[in-house]
Amino acid sequence: MSLFEPLRLRGITLRNRIAVSPMCEYSAVDGVPQSWHLVHLGSRAVGGAALVIAEATAIEARGRISPADTGLWNDAHVEAWLPISRFIHEQGAVAGIQLAHAGRKASVDVPWRGGARLEAGAGGWMPVAPSALAYAQGEPAPMALDEAGIEAIVRAFADAAQRALDAGFELLEVHAAHGYLLHEFLSPLTNRREDAFGGTFDNRIRLTRAVVAAVRAVWPERLPLFVRLSATDWADGGWDLEQSIALSRVLAGEGVDLVDVSSGGLVTHQQLRVAPGYQVPFAARIRAEAGIATGAVGLITEPAQAEAILARGEADLVLLGRELLRDPYWPRRAARELGADIAVPEQYARAW
Ligand code: FNR
Repeated sequence: MSLFEPLRLRGITLRNRIAVSPMCEYSAVDGVPQSWHLVHLGSRAVGGAALVIAEATAIEARGRISPADTGLWNDAHVEAWLPISRFIHEQGAVAGIQLAHAGRKASVDVPWRGGARLEAGAGGWMPVAPSALAYAQGEPAPMALDEAGIEAIVRAFADAAQRALDAGFELLEVHAAHGYLLHEFLSPLTNRREDAFGGTFDNRIRLTRAVVAAVRAVWPERLPLFVRLSATDWADGGWDLEQSIALSRVLAGEGVDLVDVSSGGLVTHQQLRVAPGYQVPFAARIRAEAGIATGAVGLITEPAQAEAILARGEADLVLLGRELLRDPYWPRRAARELGADIAVPEQYARAW
């Protein structure tokens, strides 16, 4: 059985191969996680996942997608995350957090209020990006970062990594996917810069590389670091699988332990082809050709499907998003279906 085999990553061990994919809850206040986050993330740790990755958490206020995103740019955030990471840990799971900057996709309303663009002064702010190109037609263009602005972003990622450590997290994921700031630098479709951060492949990956190096410098040697990539933009002339493989090789050399392989999110004209496990082949190619562990994500919903991904060596970890929203106890169901025996919380022992 592969799904319930432990996974050693540096100094920590995941009890199985099931991770909660980071998912924005749009329920924070001034970046501060609330009791919702404790119960939501905590339930999934109780449910048996080995790794619970807290949502895209902004490294600076401008880097939030919506005003209700979580943050790690001040000490109040550290205090609020502490009991959450502690509870996850007490359930035998590893608490991880995704560090993010939304770039040009920042400053929108929460999805259940329509997700419309919020203008500066009307609850929103001016987003920043590699180039002054708007995400959607009719939207005002974001502000292109200058070199001092880019350096400040790198420092903010490192400071947020230090705060994540102070907040009790044991695993970090740098969000370089889904059309947010780092991905915008990677892709020629959104990066039209003519300085050292644009143009050639080496220039476009420079910011992600700098962020990873700065984060790794403050993140302890014994703790793992993941990077989430969009393996392809699903658009002509964009970022693609070959570049993802090349970048993953570089990231392996920078001390990244696993590439979490997603796709898309950069441009509105993307041509997604969505089907069960549709991103798994990308994870498999990166794992085989870049010499780095991978995580597979995207429409993984069935225990046998997850087991097969691992058994075939397509990935080292599966991350589940929406299925774990529907069923926080999915790991228990998977154990039952696959014939594995996993511990239950003592408090619930009479039910099993
Ligand atoms: C997401 N997703 C996501 N991805 C990410 O990297 N950071 C995030 O904060 C979020 N937020 C988020 C919120 C919600 C409500 C959903 C449904 C999704 C994407 C998610 O992590 C996952 O990659 C996709 O949902 C695909 O996996 P599933 O849902 O098919 O298992």
